[in-house]
Amino acid sequence: MNFLLSDEQEMLRKMVRDFANNEVAPTAKERDEQERFDRSLFEQMAELGLTGIPWPEKYGGIGADYISYVIAVEELSRVCASTGVTLSAHLSLASWPIYTFGTEQQKQTYLKALAEGEKIGAYGLTEPGSGSDAAAMKTTAKKDGSTYVLNGSKIFITNGGAADVYIVFALTSPEKKHKGVSAFIVEKDFPGFSIGKKEEKLGIRSSPTTEIIMENCRVPEGNLLGEEGEGFKIAMKTLDGGRNGIAAQAVGIAQGALDAATEYAKERKQFGRSIASMQGISFKLADMATKIEAARLLTYQAAFRESESLSYGKESAMSKLFAGDTAMEVTTEAVQVFGGYGYTKEYPVERFMRDAKITQIYEGTNEIQRVVISNMLLND
Ligand code: CAA
Repeated sequence: MNFLLSDEQEMLRKMVRDFANNEVAPTAKERDEQERFDRSLFEQMAELGLTGIPWPEKYGGIGADYISYVIAVEELSRVCASTGVTLSAHLSLASWPIYTFGTEQQKQTYLKALAEGEKIGAYGLTEPGSGSDAAAMKTTAKKDGSTYVLNGSKIFITNGGAADVYIVFALTSPEKKHKGVSAFIVEKDFPGFSIGKKEEKLGIRSSPTTEIIMENCRVPEGNLLGEEGEGFKIAMKTLDGGRNGIAAQAVGIAQGALDAATEYAKERKQFGRSIASMQGISFKLADMATKIEAARLLTYQAAFRESESLSYGKESAMSKLFAGDTAMEVTTEAVQVFGGYGYTKEYPVERFMRDAKITQIYEGTNEIQRVVISNMLLND
């Protein structure tokens, strides 16, 4: 057993950290305030190879492993959680299912363009009436000649509006419930596809979240992903990996908050000495650091298992559950270390705290992670 990262993984961490500090961090506050997505940051990530980290070079990737992927999301989220989730949704939720279930033609057409950053990807599962109960979806797909006609809407779509390619789940056989769900690759320019309401959010405000609407949206039959009826399994397996990307985002947010709180505690003087010299504060920092390290190890472990083609669904649910709760706890404590200043926009910790909350909610609430973990424990 070896807990050390390889030279390549360390190099990637350094590259992403430099990029995050020099290019992402300077505008993070302003993008948060303006709820502004910056496509040029995504393009710069593409130039660094980040938009195709785990895919082979023949599909436009850099052939790295899933540990490299979670390191990248972590480092981005350390300064800007919105940029972290842009990459995570693009890679885990849109590109992964094409890499895993797509035909060679679909990989050449879509995966390559996504990996090279020419296109941004998104994933459409949730509907107004089906969140945690994903199988209760209502969107339908009816075969008509050589196309499927999709009708329905999906909500809370990360990268919505910014994305060019959407993985959309719809019922091809409604009577079969979850066994009648199929997955489709939908381009933003397909007739009948449109972007609906953009959400105003508490956190991750520079990551766009929108509704997508399909009104007699015609999708070529060649864009069916996997087989008809395989869609629910594709959705679930995609989330198995996606959840670990969110765990990485949570670890990054928490680390960013701890870094800021540590620096502040050393500088801030009260009662004639730094507040870091008081155990009321230094013990907080110690607890925060310990929880972050545990969350990071769970996250890297799940990524390692995926890289080694071992089962990782339970481990990803555990990493997301623990890292999400840790991010919320650590960022709340970071605001506490900063006291009144932490509650203002002058310091980034209030943004970290707002951003942390979503990691307990999306890609399955932390209550759903407990369902997934306990199901796997009990059925093993
Ligand atoms: N891998 C493969 N197959 C799986 C699976 C997995 N991880 N999980 C379930 N399945 C299969 C089961 O084996 C079963 O197959 P059979 O019918 O052949 O036996 C089938 O799927 C149904 O399984 P369940 O009976 O367990 O399904 P369920 O309806 O009870 O739901 C659930 C299970 C875990 C609660 C699931 O609905 C779930 O994960 N809900 C949360 C949805 C979610 O995470 N949404 C987030 C959307 S993305 C997002 O957040 C936005 C974003 O862009 C970031």
